[in-house]
Amino acid sequence: MSSTAVDPAILHVVGDVGRPERAYEIPTDTRHIPGNDGLLTGLASLRGWMKRGHAHLQTQAKEHGPIYRGQVGTDRFVFVSDPKLAGEVLRNGDKAWSTALGWLVQFGGITDGPMDSPVTLDFGPHRDVRKLLQPAFKAEALESYVNAAVPLFESAVAQWLEQGEVAFKAHVRDLFARVSAKVFMGVDDPVEGARLDRAMSDYWAGGLALSKREWLSPTWRRARRAYRHLFEHFRGQVDERRASDSPDLFSRLCRTNNSVDWLDDDALVRMFLAVMSAAFDTTSAGVTSMAYLLAAHPEWQARLRTEARHVTTEPIRYDEIKKLELHDLVWKETLRYYPVAPSIPRQALRDVTLGGYHIPAGTVVGVVLSAALRDPSCWTEPDRFDPERFGAERSEGKKSHGAYMPFGAGAHACVGAQLSALEAKAFWHTLLGKARFKLARPYPARHEFKPLGSVSGKVELIVEAV
Ligand code: HEM
Repeated sequence: MSSTAVDPAILHVVGDVGRPERAYEIPTDTRHIPGNDGLLTGLASLRGWMKRGHAHLQTQAKEHGPIYRGQVGTDRFVFVSDPKLAGEVLRNGDKAWSTALGWLVQFGGITDGPMDSPVTLDFGPHRDVRKLLQPAFKAEALESYVNAAVPLFESAVAQWLEQGEVAFKAHVRDLFARVSAKVFMGVDDPVEGARLDRAMSDYWAGGLALSKREWLSPTWRRARRAYRHLFEHFRGQVDERRASDSPDLFSRLCRTNNSVDWLDDDALVRMFLAVMSAAFDTTSAGVTSMAYLLAAHPEWQARLRTEARHVTTEPIRYDEIKKLELHDLVWKETLRYYPVAPSIPRQALRDVTLGGYHIPAGTVVGVVLSAALRDPSCWTEPDRFDPERFGAERSEGKKSHGAYMPFGAGAHACVGAQLSALEAKAFWHTLLGKARFKLARPYPARHEFKPLGSVSGKVELIVEAV
């Protein structure tokens, strides 16, 4: 992109905006925008996100309007919660917004060199990595991932049926961590899988550390150590994986023909770790929320069971998952009702006018994906769980631009959206074909962001054979 379109002060600090060398962290003056910031606001707001999830974000938007100034912990943002404006920022038609710089404010410094994550690259370099990722998300690859996941789903369901009562949130998180180890990393050994999962958790937690100084923050220290460990672990395996015919995502990435100079083997491993971090715990967060909703709506559980039994074979095959239309509606409605991704950061590359407000170059904007998901101007009875709103007849998700973006939009839209839906539907097919369930101790749930969005509580279930 033309460097004249970028504020010179930003260019001076970050170098190339396509592959920035560091974050741009010089505060901008946004006092003309309604809202509050400051440490006390930041701490109260953090509590609001964690305890009240999307309801907190809706309250903020009602109080301050569609564009407002805010702070979460120590990070200051201008939040954009109007669906149309949010879509405009994400589609980034005039290249005024940097995804890379937005995310670097959160994760920059986790490694001493560049991060080379799809979200910390933009424009040309970002296109290079999306191209490199493509083969690992094609139908043949997705099929092999689903085939590797289904036996793990089957043995988990068999174990739950034996147990009778299951702390679902914890169990399903562990199950999907085992699935990720196998499908993404090619690791079958549960002990090694658990070790890598702990390292991924520590790396991930770094994004939330209140300080990015090792001497001040044990969380940040652990995150940097975990990242180094993961990098060395996978870097040491590149040649072996390249020579293998292993179907996991990492081995596929190692085997991909790559003619881009800057994407050497070190960059490849950094990119792989970034994909893992983007995938981390997302699908299991959605599946947990769907369990609560299905327990609260037994009529939908029954409809999905009928579909699971009649539409496909046992165990489910990849090409049959697309026939699970009702499963698809419920998955979509779950991600609307209890969204997983809260808000995603962008940084203004130059002065911008958005929704009538002047946004100075360098301002970090939080594009709120979840406020629009309960907006009455976009959805009929938005607080009702109603999967049929996504059916062909009503197609509510397509009616308002920007109202339904659980996987983001534009060049950085989620690369794993299809895989996560396939895994979720294969999981529910496996469980519902064999079992019915209810909450062991019913409770009124909230939505919470910790930091991923999910239903509150442990979602303890009584699972019985049908
Ligand atoms: C319910 C599950 C998931 C949700 C809600 C979700 C949500 C999102 C969102 C909102 C973004 C956009 C970030 C931005 O624009 O700044 C994103 C990007 C991304 N997601 Fe997901 N995701 C999910 C599952 C996955 C999985 C399973 C994978 C990998 C296998 C994955 C890999 C990625 C990657 C690599 C990006 C960055 C894309 C880019 O910058 O070009 N996600 N995801």
